[in-house]
Amino acid sequence: MEMMDEKARILQLRDELHQHNYRYYVENNPVISDQEFDFMMRELQDLEAKHPEMFDPNSPSQRVGSDLNNEFETVAHTRPMLSLGNTYNREEVADFWQRVSEGLMGAPFQICCELKFDGLSISLHYEEGRLVRAVTRGDGVQGDDVTANVRTIRSIPLQLPKGGDWPRQFEIRGEVLMPWSSFDRLNAEREKAGEPLFANPRNAASGTLKSKNSSTVAQRGLDAYLYYLLGDGIPGDGHYQNLEAAARWGFQVSKNMRLVDTLEGVFEYIDYWDKERKNLPVATDGVVLKVNSLAQQKSLGMTAKSPRWAIAYKFQAEQAETTLRQVVFQVGRTGAVTPVANMDPVQLAGTQVRRATLHNADVMASLDLHVGDRVLVEKGGEIIPKIVGKADPPTSFRGSDEQCSIKFVEYCPVCGSKLVRYEGEAAHYCPNDTGCPPLILGRIEHFISRKAMNITSLGPETVDDYYRQGLIHDAADLYSLTPTISKGEGASAVAFTPPLEGKGEAKVLASIEESKQVPFERVLFAIGIRFVGEIAAKTLARYYGSMDKVMEASKESLMQINGIGEVIADSVVQYFANPVNRAFVERLRSYGLQMEIGEQQKQARSDKLDGQSIVISGVFQHHSRDEYKALIEQHGGKNVGSISNKTSFILAGDNMGPAKLEKAQKLGIRIMNEDEFLNLIDSLSS
Ligand code: IVH
Repeated sequence: MEMMDEKARILQLRDELHQHNYRYYVENNPVISDQEFDFMMRELQDLEAKHPEMFDPNSPSQRVGSDLNNEFETVAHTRPMLSLGNTYNREEVADFWQRVSEGLMGAPFQICCELKFDGLSISLHYEEGRLVRAVTRGDGVQGDDVTANVRTIRSIPLQLPKGGDWPRQFEIRGEVLMPWSSFDRLNAEREKAGEPLFANPRNAASGTLKSKNSSTVAQRGLDAYLYYLLGDGIPGDGHYQNLEAAARWGFQVSKNMRLVDTLEGVFEYIDYWDKERKNLPVATDGVVLKVNSLAQQKSLGMTAKSPRWAIAYKFQAEQAETTLRQVVFQVGRTGAVTPVANMDPVQLAGTQVRRATLHNADVMASLDLHVGDRVLVEKGGEIIPKIVGKADPPTSFRGSDEQCSIKFVEYCPVCGSKLVRYEGEAAHYCPNDTGCPPLILGRIEHFISRKAMNITSLGPETVDDYYRQGLIHDAADLYSLTPTISKGEGASAVAFTPPLEGKGEAKVLASIEESKQVPFERVLFAIGIRFVGEIAAKTLARYYGSMDKVMEASKESLMQINGIGEVIADSVVQYFANPVNRAFVERLRSYGLQMEIGEQQKQARSDKLDGQSIVISGVFQHHSRDEYKALIEQHGGKNVGSISNKTSFILAGDNMGPAKLEKAQKLGIRIMNEDEFLNLIDSLSS
């Protein structure tokens, strides 16, 4: 083929494949065989390989994703992504109807009834008919840019059909979800591989969409329904009509939306789908009701959190009735003790259930259960169902109270330590974090996790294995592991045993070795001081500069630090008061882990913002808010929450709140942007 022809052919193939893709994944009505489709795709891939200058991220060939690691950029939403108010019964739905009617001063209105899809919301931006950006909801103001991953979802069009009446620029929102069939397949694979299962399709969809690797996403079979079109120049004044238009442009829009103009119509829709939803290929957790007219939506407006023109109605979770036989107590990796009920097996939402959680001592007491009681079991969002109450009548068999009443344990069922209950927490904990096996495992898992020492070639299952085999007793033992096949002398007592040999073993050892370079602040996070999260560890590391100084710090000294309260201060002091912990840290030191902040950070510290009170506001591009907070503190400044005449200046990102802006202007306080601030501390520290 001539050069020009090849380029034209690439464009032609892309067009055709986009169309076939739509017919297959949105309309479920393919007009060519899978084989023909693959054949065309291969031709396209070959031609694209020959013409790298023709690369297009929206080419159908890009649907397979890539193995490149992508970090997500945080981006601000063009329009905030609000959530919906919830209702749980007919009365609350009727109240909504009434509010809308009053808000519209008695004018007639239509409600668009839709299914509430149980996945995660996504905002898609199109320009000139091409997908340009896909952003997760995040906190509603800003979210993660997950475009590369979203491109692999086959039902999302990358290129709209040419000549359509779509606006040049618009946003469309919807739900990314994992159909039951993909979910079941994924969990079956994970079970086989000994990996933890996803509790429900929503978690699976969310975990998948946030995967760093778009080829993983491509394989997991995600799907999407779109339910909200936004932007200037969208075609109609009705929500329903706009979604009809979106469907014409190639978006997957639910076929189960209905326009109704009476409250009875709403109830009929709810009742119908409460039953019928069990036959849908995707999970739904309710119904969404929206005022259809955009003009009426506008006149109803929003509250701070959600629109006044829409509401969600949540379906009741399915329940089943069975008999309670026994309650056992499980100790989790954090030391939390959970009461778990063993029951007669019963069928619930498609699976057989024989165990259910009772959450904690308070829930257990309020249920006042006895062995032999008939109980109601419900499946929430978790893998393990819960007991929500007693059935009517509650008793099928009850012996004497002594035989049958159930009490929460006082001592750890694993190690026998007396349980403690921290103020404000519902759970009882085993406090023996250096001696109780599940807690020790929890600490090791935390130690190796990505945000701590990042020894990710070692999964939780392998750690469990090593621990059970007696190869390791705590996280420091990881550093004494040596290869199975030792090369001459120096092989130590602790060695790998099969099956982890060869390549896998070398990889584990290499990543353990690499972790010795992990910066001190993450070492401080990794050792697992209760309540010392990533941010607190960072703050402590930067403030004290070394492990020795943190170890010596008194409660008073700790509490002087901005961001460190009494709970953390007490916990740090307590941790280092325990000789087992001190010995653990000393062993880590002897293996060469970082016990001080790096030279660069030392230099970066100054007292140039000494005495300054700085307010942070808005959304930033270069660093997160927490990082700015840390930077201010590193340079001796103080980050304060609200503007007053004592405020030295405001570090402002995008979308600074109008109230703050007005106050700052009134008090004549300087507003500094990100770049100015970075310049300032840069010039100050050099
Ligand atoms: S409309 C302002 N429609 O439910 C309108 N949301 O609790 C906002 N959801 O964050 C959303 N199905 O993730 C809308 N048919 C539907 C929906 C739906 C599921 C989710 C969405 C949203 C949450 C609100």
